[in-house]
Amino acid sequence: MNEKNEIDPRLKSVYENKLDKTDLYDKWASTYDEDLINDLGYVADQKACEILSELVTDTSAYILDAGCGTGLVGGRLRSAGYQNIDGSDFSTGMLAKAKDTNAYNNLFQHDLTKPLALKAPYEALIAVGVFGFNTPSFEHLGHLTDCLVLNGYAVVTVNGKAWDDNNWQKRINEFSLYYPNVQLHKVVTIEYLTTDGIDGQVLVLQKK
Ligand SMILES: C[S@@+](CC[C@H](N)C(=O)[O-])C[C@H]1O[C@@H](n2cnc3c(N)ncnc32)[C@H](O)[C@@H]1O
Repeated sequence: MNEKNEIDPRLKSVYENKLDKTDLYDKWASTYDEDLINDLGYVADQKACEILSELVTDTSAYILDAGCGTGLVGGRLRSAGYQNIDGSDFSTGMLAKAKDTNAYNNLFQHDLTKPLALKAPYEALIAVGVFGFNTPSFEHLGHLTDCLVLNGYAVVTVNGKAWDDNNWQKRINEFSLYYPNVQLHKVVTIEYLTTDGIDGQVLVLQKK
């Protein structure tokens, strides 16, 4: 938040919208990188990629970047040597930008509030900047972990403001009741949107 304790209007429209946000993200795609990185000090992508790289050392692993947006995460992972990255998003505007990065083997449209039909499961999954407010929500985490091979990791960020406002800690405390086939490996606090001083929590999940 800024000195006046107000949330940036670009973030506010995403945080408060409970309806279909596809259109909102389609429209944001062209200025997203500049807005987030230059103005809002977005570092969640960097922090989450560092966590994934520690867990997944095999650079040939098949990785899904769920809610890939313009491809910041895919670009980082590709630069770190990962060769098999797919990306999904419900916004075609975002997917078009992600394609331009050449970081992804496959890109496809998918709404994370719905299960994902897969030909083969992924060895790892990363979802950055997607979970927190409204949808997708805690209830949809299973759609991610359903995409994983046994022992595969999912690295999922949760916006720190949403963590507090939407009482994610309570749900996390009850995690094993909701997801008996998933291990909550760890929760890590990261810097997230540095300009507004919003931190984030990273859920590291492992398919059992
Ligand atoms: C804040 S952006 C983060 C993008 C990217 N992961 C990054 O770190 O820059 C959130 C992304 O999640 C996508 N998204 C939001 N809700 C979604 C849903 N229910 N299903 C699929 N994608 C969704 C948006 O279209 C947008 O591209």
